[in-house]
Formats: sequence, C-alpha cells, structure tokens
Amino acid sequence: MQKVSVIGAGTMGNGIAHVFAQNGFHVNLIDVAAPALEKALATIGKNLDRQVAKETITEADKTATLGRITTYTDMASGVKDAELVVEAATENIDLKLNIFKQLDQHAAPGAILATNTSSISITKIAAVTKRPTQVIGMHFMNPVPVMKLVEIINGYATDKEVTKKIEALSVQLGKVPCVVNDYPGFIANRILMPMINEAIYSLFEGVAGVNEIDTVMKLGMAHPMGPLQLADFIGLDVCLSILHVLHQGFGNPKYAPCPLLVNMVTAGYLGAKSGEGFYKYT
Ligand code: CAA
Repeated sequence: MQKVSVIGAGTMGNGIAHVFAQNGFHVNLIDVAAPALEKALATIGKNLDRQVAKETITEADKTATLGRITTYTDMASGVKDAELVVEAATENIDLKLNIFKQLDQHAAPGAILATNTSSISITKIAAVTKRPTQVIGMHFMNPVPVMKLVEIINGYATDKEVTKKIEALSVQLGKVPCVVNDYPGFIANRILMPMINEAIYSLFEGVAGVNEIDTVMKLGMAHPMGPLQLADFIGLDVCLSILHVLHQGFGNPKYAPCPLLVNMVTAGYLGAKSGEGFYKYT
C-alpha cells in the first residue's frame, strides 16, 4: 500500500496524515475548508519541528514528509487513486454516513474504507456502502504521532483479510494494533469514559477538588494526565457524546453522563479548545 487519503484536517486528521507521510506513504489530505488544510500543514510542520529538535528525525526527513502530503478540498479527486481512505471528520453520525456514501462512489472498488470514529458503530457506517466487507475502524489516539495504540474495530461484515492488512499497516506505522469487535465504545472508550464520568461525579458530589482527583490518578495510578485534565484535552462535548452512545447502546444507567458534564457542555465550557473546562487555558 502506498497511497492513502485522509478525510478531515482537524486534530486527528492532521496527526494521521503526519504519521502516514512520515512512514513513506503518499497522503492526500482532504477537507472541505481550505483554511483548515493550511492550518493542518502548519501544525504538522510544527510537530515535525519537535521531532527535529529531539533529533529523532532530520530536517531532510521533515521536508520529505511534508512533500508527501497533497491537499484537496474536493473529495472525488482526493480519493480516486487511494488504496486506503481513513475518515477522520467531525464525530457526527449523519456527516459520517454521508461521507461514506460518497466514498463508496468515488474510491476505487478495491480500496479499504476506514473510519477513525471513537464511538459510532462501524457496522452502521459500513451498511451505507456497497462494500461492507471492506469497511473497518482504525481508531488512533491523540496525539497521534506520540500514542502507540491503533484500536482496530471489525464491523459485523468486515473481511478477515482486510483486518490483517490494517493490522500489518499499523505495525508499519510504528504502532501497536489491537483488534476488537463493534459494540458501543469499542474497548478504549468503554473503559476510559466511565472512569472520566466517575471523576466528574466525584467532583460533583464534593468528594474532592479538581487538583486532588487528578493528582490521585496521576501519582497513584501513574496516568500521564488526571481524568479531568484528560477530559479537557479530549473535549467535554466529545466525552458527553461518547457517554450518550454508551448509555443508549447498552441501556444501562451506569453510563448516564454526570449532570455537571451536561451543564458544562451546555454552557460552552468544552475544555482546552474553548479556553476553559475543569482548568483554564490562556
Ligand atoms: N506531535 C508530536 N509530538 C508530540 C505531540 C504532538 N502533537 N505532543 C507531544 N509530543 C511529544 C513531545 O515532543 C515529547 O516528545 P519526547 O518524549 O521525545 O520528549 C512527548 O510527546 C511528550 O510531550 P511533552 O513533554 O510536551 O508533554 P508530556 O510529557 O506532558 O506528554 C502527552 C504529553 C503525550 C499528551 C501526555 O500527557 C499523555 O500521554 N497524555 C495522555 C494522552 C491520552 O490519554 N490520549 C488518549 C486520549 S483518548 C483518545 O484520543 C481517543 C478517544 O476516542 C477519545
């Protein structure tokens, strides 16, 4: 596999494009908004600079990596020669179903269609295409250039050969793949989000303050970030929407989002990206 298209130039999309390009793939980075593509290239350049500064790559590697990324605002021309498409658009089911309908029309018949969704059913996404056996979840973690895991999610109809190809490809990217099945939240968010929700409940019920909750988990459990800081980093709106998927998907009250999280999202306190969540960002 040599040609990969990435849909969406946001945080996850630019990280995914970065990692593929750094590992020798030709990447078509596609976004409807031209300014988002410019911003993504600048971010990738900045993140490559960190690696140059750490001497893990050279200035020439940086130039070659950026040289392997081509940007497109038109999906049809951006995906037509791709062997793999990785969709990393906003986490919105209607948007993703619409993108996959279009991908199915414009991508080559043999191309694998992957989604970086953090919680939407792969089976549901695959069902809007005429190639459900070639649709799979390829869930990268943020920050993509740093985090080792790729959670690979088999939809109900995903072909085992497709899974094997995506596993091998993840290894080629220097990542560690873990194959799981398509149930709400998969594994990563089925376990992570209840922990974050419990941390928010602990704050809501006055058991401890923000710093205390995060310090207990950082120093006591060796987590790099406490759960409230991590929630801010992921985005409180994203956490809330994943909890809704778990709550609705399992029909179990244990996944009900904490009312404090609901209030914060309603009030626009979304974490780092909005300037304030559990912490303030200046
Ligand atoms: N691109 C490239 N490199 C980056 C980077 C980026 N965007 N962000 C950080 N780095 C590098 C730094 O250069 C540094 O490199 P070295 O180890 O070579 O020095 C390294 O990562 C550590 O960065 P910092 O020293 O700046 O900061 P840190 O030590 O506090 O680590 C962190 C930052 C890696 C983000 C760390 O805090 C961490 O691992 N946090 C938890 C992240 C996490 O849990 N992510 C998963 C979120 S859930 C998700 O993504 C899925 C979902 O569905 C919700």
